[in-house]
Amino acid sequence: RHVLVLSGPNLAALGSREPEIYGTLTLDDIQRQVVEQAEELGLQATCRQTDDEGELVGWLHEAAVAGWDVILNPAAFTHYSYAVGDACAHLAGMGSRLIEVHLSNPASRETFRHTSVVARSATGTIAGFGAASYLLALRALAGH
Ligand code: DQA
Repeated sequence: RHVLVLSGPNLAALGSREPEIYGTLTLDDIQRQVVEQAEELGLQATCRQTDDEGELVGWLHEAAVAGWDVILNPAAFTHYSYAVGDACAHLAGMGSRLIEVHLSNPASRETFRHTSVVARSATGTIAGFGAASYLLALRALAGH
């Protein structure tokens, strides 16, 4: 089964970006672990990252039409992008499963991070476990 693993804005800077919050692994490191773990679980993962809202929306519609499940770290778009939120609703409405993931735990941070416009369309959310949030999402999809 195919899983699209999408990361939003500023996540390409992982490694040097606020390591006390996001850890020291680069996005390449995380994506390598994701591809490896997916294989072990019998899934085929494709990883992509963008800083561009429109590109992310396009990928979500692509997954919706293709019938792929999605693991999504929407990064800052989580908190205010109704465009990404609506694309997630399309994805869920087409029957794909969507796992929202975060490296940090937004609920324990600034108030503006307490809102997610994606959560209503998610099968579930995994937050606060660093790179393991992505790996736990794969396990959730494999076992669900
Ligand atoms: C994040 C949390 C968001 O609040 C933030 O804007 C990010 C990363 C996380 O993975 O912890 O860029 O999604």
